[in-house]
This record gives sequence, structure tokens and C-alpha cells, in this order.
Amino acid sequence: LPLRDKKILITAGPTYEAIDPVRFIGNHSSGKMGFELAAAAQRLGATVTLISGPTHLENPSADIELIRVQSAQEMFEAATGKFDEVDAAIAAAAVSDYRPKKVADQKIKKETENLHMELEKTPDILASLGSKKQNQVLVGFALETENEEQNALGKLEKKNLDFIVLNSLNDKGAGFKTDTNKISILFGNGQKVDFGLKSKKEVAEDILKELTLLLNE
Ligand code: C5P
Repeated sequence: LPLRDKKILITAGPTYEAIDPVRFIGNHSSGKMGFELAAAAQRLGATVTLISGPTHLENPSADIELIRVQSAQEMFEAATGKFDEVDAAIAAAAVSDYRPKKVADQKIKKETENLHMELEKTPDILASLGSKKQNQVLVGFALETENEEQNALGKLEKKNLDFIVLNSLNDKGAGFKTDTNKISILFGNGQKVDFGLKSKKEVAEDILKELTLLLNE
């Protein structure tokens, strides 16, 4: 098995950022891509830690260490705590970019006509892993609506990644809630590999093939 003595960290799913005890800011990420990546890595023999925000998905394998979290802050702490031990990390989570600056202790009442809430940035988990990177192979995702390649390459550089997976939003069947995805992989040297529309299981296998090549270099 090609990843037999490798440890891999994967983030998946959305994050929920509390507004008050009953409400949150979240997004439509299903977690499927990250869970398929974890399953594929485990099939290839890797020791997998999967850190996931709230999803309806079950752990694909009892051999995968699944850490369930809610917020970006919790995901950040779990991921940075694990990173030093692993050989590679793949950030497939759709982390909320902003969170309420103050979380209300009690349920917010419907009193005013307009409610204003101040938001602050959440920690960028992947960028933080990139800045701590030693020998790990680091992979990120990008979901862009314009200047796709240019923006993805910007992120690759800024977050110190080995490659970035660009999700095509212009294609039917690609993205958030579907069982299929269409990706391109961009490398730092400008090399680009385009893949066709496939199941997320197959996409995960394609991504892990590239990761395996880099890990065994
Ligand atoms: O900058 P942007 O959010 O577009 O970058 C997407 C990539 O960064 C994804 O791999 C995502 O998992 C990761 N990310 C993260 N923490 C954040 C925001 C994004 O790990 N706060």
C-alpha cells in the first residue's frame, strides 16, 4: 500500500459560528469531498485523522480518527495540534471566513427593526499550517467565481501549499452538495492538470495520486 507509513490530516465540512445559544452562521458544505479523501487515504494505507465540522456523514472507517468540531476556532486548535505529527494535510473544509465578534449569552430578542452584528475574521487554518510547515505536503482547495486560476495560484503561494485543487463552479455537478466534482490541480511551478466530471470518490483518488507522488519524492 503506497501510503502505508504515512500520517495524513484532513479537514472537512462547514463550520458553525455561534450568534447566540440557538443560532449560527454556516454554509452549505456537505463534507462529502473531505470524507471521501479520508476514506481514500485510509484505503491506500495511511493513518488518517479527519477533523470535521457539523455534517450528517458517518465515519467511513473505524480506522479513521474522526474529530468532530463546530467552529473555525475549534477546527484551528484541533488541526494545529495535530500538524507536527503528520506527513501531509489536506484542507477540504469550507471554513467560515467571519464570525460574530460577540456571542450573545441569551437568545437575541426580536425587538428592533434592523439588527446589526459586527463580524470578525476567523483564523485561516490552512495559512497557519503553511507557516508552520516543515516537511509536510500541504494541499488546499479553492472555489472561485472569477479569475479562477489567478486567484487559486495566489492562495497556493500565500498559504505555502504544494498544490491547490480548483473546484470548477462553471460546471454542472461540481461543488458543494453534489456527489460529483470537476477539478483542476495547480502546482507552484505553473503546471496544471485538468480532470473530467467524476464522482467525489474518484476525485479523491485523483488527488491522493498526486499527493502520493509528492510524498514519495
Ligand atoms: O482563502 P480561501 O478560503 O479561499 O482558501 C480556501 C482554502 O483554505 C481551503 O483549502 C480551506 O479549507 C482553507 N481555509 C482554512 N481556514 C480558513 C479559510 C480557508 O483552512 N479560515
